[in-house]
Amino acid sequence: MVSIDPEFGVFRQDALDELDMFFQTHGFAILRGLYSVDDMSGMLAECADAQTRVANGELAAKHGNSILIDETAAASGRFANYVQYVTQIAPVTRAAVLHPAIVSLMERWIPGGHLREHSRFGVVYQDARAGLGSGYKRIGWHSDWQSGPQLDVWPSAAFTIHIDGTSPANGFLRVVPGSQRWATPAPYENANNAPLPEGSKPTGGHMRFDPPYPMPLAFQKAPGEVAIYCDDGDVLFHDAYLWHSAASATDTGAIRRHIRGAWFTGPPDAEEGDYLEEFVKNAAR
Ligand SMILES: [Fe+2]
Repeated sequence: MVSIDPEFGVFRQDALDELDMFFQTHGFAILRGLYSVDDMSGMLAECADAQTRVANGELAAKHGNSILIDETAAASGRFANYVQYVTQIAPVTRAAVLHPAIVSLMERWIPGGHLREHSRFGVVYQDARAGLGSGYKRIGWHSDWQSGPQLDVWPSAAFTIHIDGTSPANGFLRVVPGSQRWATPAPYENANNAPLPEGSKPTGGHMRFDPPYPMPLAFQKAPGEVAIYCDDGDVLFHDAYLWHSAASATDTGAIRRHIRGAWFTGPPDAEEGDYLEEFVKNAAR
């Protein structure tokens, strides 16, 4: 008789020490059973409402992003894949993000750090669709650190609160366990040949081990990678140095909605952040 563990990497609120140990070893972990049915429906109602208001242009520009709004996705009108700075307009969602179990883990991993709510997109509600018109389907291999190798905000740890469970049908996260320990090079080579920002560190990771192979440039199979599947309501944590990618859905009618954000090292920005700059840059692309 072969036994399987359907909850590998999954922990409940009464086992945060074990979750912590798993996270330190593998660079990711899942916290299950944190939210009630009412919490979940409250979050979804708030986020879906904000999403509609972004699509209708009823919210401040910073909550949307013109490049990410797809006017062909729905025949009936505009559609927004993202709501940025969602914790500033969604109190139930903000309370869920600041659940004491999440805060206590983040305080272990990013001591003296902060939840980024007021700059660089803040906490984001994402509605990923497989349909052709969607502005988001999948994302290739990266570590989050590579998005800002010049910044002084690492280490960092990210969370994703799953409104919808994940599967091959609606897309899922792929990770290389333990890769958060490797000295991952800044993206000297990348798909869009973007130049490295000035002041970038050459590598980022918790330890100095050289990666055993170069990070794949796109969606190729990475030796040692595993698939992470979440249930509705799961909170998935991952280290900002972890190698990860997101697989696209196989079912074109599938929906994958979640709320994601991260804690970063150091104090929060003194003032409301750089969203205008980001917005203008994206709009001009
Ligand atoms: Fe990422």
